[in-house]
Formats: sequence, structure tokens, C-alpha cells
Amino acid sequence: MGISAPAKSYHLTTFGCQMNQHDSERMQGMLESLGWTATEKQVNADLILFNTCSIREKADEKLIQYLYEARMVKRQRPETIIGVGGCWAQSVKEEVFRRFPFVDVAFGPGQVDKLAEFLNSDSLSAQGYFEFEGFTGHLPQRKEKTHSAWVQISVGCNCNCSYCIVPSTRGREASRPSEELVTEVSELVAAGVKEVTLLGQNVNSYGRDLQDGGKTTFSGLLRELDSIDGLRRLRYTSPHPKDMKEDVVLAHAELESVCAHIHLPLQAGSTSVLKAMRRTYTRERYLERVDMIRASLPDVSITTDIIVGFPGETEADFEETIEVVQEVGFDGAFTFIFSPRRGTLAASLPDSVPHDEKVARMQRLLPVVQRCALERAQRFVGRELEVLVEGTSRTDDARLRGRTSGSKVVNFDGLATPGDLVTVLIEEASSLTLGGTQVLAELSS
Ligand code: 5AD
Ligand code: SF4
Repeated sequence: MGISAPAKSYHLTTFGCQMNQHDSERMQGMLESLGWTATEKQVNADLILFNTCSIREKADEKLIQYLYEARMVKRQRPETIIGVGGCWAQSVKEEVFRRFPFVDVAFGPGQVDKLAEFLNSDSLSAQGYFEFEGFTGHLPQRKEKTHSAWVQISVGCNCNCSYCIVPSTRGREASRPSEELVTEVSELVAAGVKEVTLLGQNVNSYGRDLQDGGKTTFSGLLRELDSIDGLRRLRYTSPHPKDMKEDVVLAHAELESVCAHIHLPLQAGSTSVLKAMRRTYTRERYLERVDMIRASLPDVSITTDIIVGFPGETEADFEETIEVVQEVGFDGAFTFIFSPRRGTLAASLPDSVPHDEKVARMQRLLPVVQRCALERAQRFVGRELEVLVEGTSRTDDARLRGRTSGSKVVNFDGLATPGDLVTVLIEEASSLTLGGTQVLAELSS
């Protein structure tokens, strides 16, 4: 008779984008199927894992601090395993071990299966770094919310944005076959998932690498997935403005499950900065795309990403960003201060905008973004919107929280359970959230 080993515990900290959160869910799924259990505190864990990001300098500083905390744990319990995965690990490779010799294992984004192999091998004392290797589609995934799931449709990016580290960390774009994705989404829906978010660095160039004579396209994929019975909401992030063509907009207009939200990263409003960023569109082209979208989808929510203080950005360039924000009237925006990333073209350009000036520009941009978001949100007041219930309101236990098709968070009075789709009368709007009351179906007497 075998002796059952005590359950091993892990602690996972995730930095960065949704892609990383998705990878983390895979890691959790894998670990739990191997008999590991999650623990809340790093000090109690047998395995301390970090899923890292290299998009911004900030995450690195926080990561370093967390890593040193992990070292303290290892000093007390030398058998503790410390693992570092994700984009930052990929970008520095073996240097992880030089800088942080207490790290046992490092692996690139999407290499969850390699981590599993490592944990199952008897070479735990050997430090290991795994090169980038495709997908981990067959692994189980633990989902945070049972009614919503993420599905990765491609990895890598063929663009060359000069500030971005992704092409060097995640490699060339590789799309998963659509049949595999249809099967995966069907299984998720059968398990109770109502909302699926498709993930990729540049989702709307999906399929171009498959070399099937252009048969597989992003809008085609949306159509195939929309026809799955029981899938109520289909989202995706992020598209590139250059690939946001009529067929995708038409899919929004025609397909019931495709949500009324498009995240369309602008990055900068000045054509000369866009050129230096290698975004391959001009200010005018971007605005034309927005017009094209709004002509077919007048009520769609459009959100964006903006970088402030790119090398060479002049005061006049920055003012153009403010102008475009006002002209488009975004429903929301993620704003970033430029930070040079190792090995990118932009990192070799003279970082001409002093840090204080970058911060000052950000402080001028934020109120404009907020004002636009508030104005846009006010169009919902007095309307009845369909809301997918996520749980209890974060600010008021007595209320519920959910999300509209346009991706706005709604806090509301009502009676429902997570995963329900309910109708809410919107009574108030702020730049970030809506408030309202559920419209309950009349009870027949
Ligand atoms: N500096 C600042 N922001 C960046 N982003 C990507 N790379 C950088 C960088 N080097 C932002 C972009 C992108 C978002 C995910 O992160 O706006 O769309
Ligand atoms: Fe980076 Fe540009 Fe690719 Fe987005 S599209 S991942 S910003 S290179």
C-alpha cells in the first residue's frame, strides 16, 4: 500500500495582461490536476510562482520586491521551489538565474506544460530555463468565473511596434485551427460558460498564418463561434486598427453574441509619433476606421490604449492625442507613460521627454479621458440594458454587480445569481460604472 504524500501547496502571483491571467489559469488547472493546492500566503507555499510581464518597467520593480520576499521563504525552507514564467522571464532568459540565483525554474509565456514536466521530474534541484514553444491547448484550466472564459486564438505578433517587447518575447504569430477553437468553446458552453473572450496580441489578423488560401479569417471565426448554441456573449481583445475591416464590423452588426464593444488601441494622435511607433496608420486613417465602425454600429462602445511621452513627442504631438481623444469620444482608455523596453527600437531612441513632463502630460490627458467616458456613459441613463451578473457589488454588499454588452460595470439592486443575464434600468452613470435597478418580470397572480 502506498503512503499518501501530504498535499503540496503553491502560491501564484500574476502580473500584466489578460493573456497572462489566462496562462495563470492554465497553470492553476495544471497544478491542481497534479495534486497541488493553492495557498494564500507565499510563506506557506512549497512552490512560489510568478507569471511575469515586461510591458512596463513598474511590474519589474514589484516583481523584484516579491522575488526577494520569496528568497526569505527559501532561506527558512530551502526545499521551497521558486518559479518565474511569462514575458519578462522570456526577455531576460538565463539572466534570471544570474540575477536571482535562488530561482529554480524559469519558463516563457504559454509553457505551462514544460512547468508540469519540470515539477514531475526528479531534477528539481537543477535550474532550468525553457525556450518558447507553441500552445498548451490540451491542459485543463481553472476558471475564476464559471460563466466567463478566455480562449487564446493565437500567440505572437507579426507587427513591429517600436515600443513593444511582445514580438521578441512571444514570437511570430501562430493561429490555432478554427475547428479546435469551435470544439473548445462548445465544451466551455456545455460546462455552463455564457461569455467567451478571444485573446490574441492582434486578434483580427487571426488565420493569416494558416496558409489555407485565406479561408480562415477572424470574422469567419466569429461566425462559427456565434452559431454555438448557448454562447450568449462573444468578446475579443485586442484588434489592431489596421486590420479592423468591414467584415469584422459586419460580424458585430449581424451576430447576436458579438458584444457592443471594440477596444481599438490608438497609442498616439500624431501621425509623426505613430510613424515612429511603426503603427502603420495615420491619425486620419484611425479616425476613418472609427467613422466606419460608428456608421454600422452607432451604439458600440469604443475604448483604447494611449502611450504618453514617446521619444520625440513634442507638445504639439501631445495636443494631437488630446484632440483625437475628444474627437472620437472614447468610452474608456488605458493610459501608459512610455517606458523603454529592453531590445526594442524605441529603447534606442533618445528618450527626449523628461519624466516630469511625461507625468504632466498624463495629468492633462486623464481628465479629458474621464470627461469623454462620462459623457458617453450618460447615454445609457434611462435605458434598459442586458447585464451578465458577476457577483456582489464591490462597494455595497446589498447590491449586485454585472457587465453590459458594452463592457461597462453596473452596480444594481436586484435578485439574481452570478451567470444570470438580467435586464437593468440604468439610473446613473459615472466615467467608470453605471448604477440601476433590475427590471423584474411581472409575477402573474
Ligand atoms: N511603454 C508604455 N506603454 C506600453 N505599452 C506597450 N509597450 C509599452 C511601453 N514600452 C502599452 C500599449 C499597449 C498596452 C498593452 O501597453 O498601449 O497597447
Ligand atoms: Fe506589441 Fe504592436 Fe504586436 Fe500589440 S500589435 S503586441 S503593441 S507589436
